[in-house]
Amino acid sequence: MNYENILFQVTDGVAVITLNRPKAWNALCTRLNTELEDALLAAEQDPEVRVVILTGGDKVFAAGADLKEMAQATPMEAARTSALAQRINNFLEQMSVPVIAAVSGLALGGGCELALACDFRVVAEDAQFGLPEVGLGILPGAGGTQRLAALAGAARAFEMVLLGRRISGAAAAQAGLATCAVEPGQVMAAALEMAAALKKNPAYSMALAKRAIVSGQTLGAGAGKLMERELFALTFANPDQAEGMRAFAEKRRPSFQNLR
Ligand code: HXC
Repeated sequence: MNYENILFQVTDGVAVITLNRPKAWNALCTRLNTELEDALLAAEQDPEVRVVILTGGDKVFAAGADLKEMAQATPMEAARTSALAQRINNFLEQMSVPVIAAVSGLALGGGCELALACDFRVVAEDAQFGLPEVGLGILPGAGGTQRLAALAGAARAFEMVLLGRRISGAAAAQAGLATCAVEPGQVMAAALEMAAALKKNPAYSMALAKRAIVSGQTLGAGAGKLMERELFALTFANPDQAEGMRAFAEKRRPSFQNLR
């Protein structure tokens, strides 16, 4: 697929996907979402890729769904828009590689929801997270009501969704909504540093550990624990388990194959 609204680059096992529609503050139009879905699938299928970083660049993460495209939508078209956005956000959770959202500037509406679906959020202290949908007569439709409440609690979700209150990157980190907040201008460097740390861990156990966490979040803790047990057993089918434990016994650094 020819990308017009995103940039996609893989360097040293790190896939960087940049939302790139500056004239509309990276608003997530259908074409952009289609390209994003295609790039995520490509990253997942590339065995060289170990980590994905999703960013909007230095100025804005994304100003939400494309309001010009959405304004005249029929309920059926709105359902399709929501389905595409939810599919992307669910896929981010289902990917076998960790996904870091590197957020500078505004992450509004669907942009906020997109960031919330990533495994990590490395954000600028002065970034702004907000869900202004209710003020537009709609509501967050990309899974945001669920993910926000799960990450930061229902009280914060009511405040941000019903009152439309924005939260800074620094406050988001304190509220558990962001992984860490860093100085503006340092976001990509911090995300790359996190990616380098993630790359030191073996791919398969990270993939299965992510799946265990996500299972619990989406299916409930009981099912999540059952999944955890099966996934734990499955790590013993991968050569990196033997290597990790042998390296410990031999007091040396492990040399992982990173098959996933
Ligand atoms: C379409 C958008 C846009 C958006 C900005 N633009 N946000 N176009 N959809 N979400 C466009 C503007 O129309 C304008 O285009 C250009 O970008 C610059 O925007 P301005 O408003 O002129 O700039 P500024 O005054 O600096 O304000 C920037 C802004 C503001 C704070 C980002 O544009 C804004 O509030 N945008 C909407 C944010 C929002 O409500 N998001 C939630 C969307 S609902 P022109 O052509 O006029 O120059 C949503 C639902 C998700 O996300 C559900 C998923 C299923």
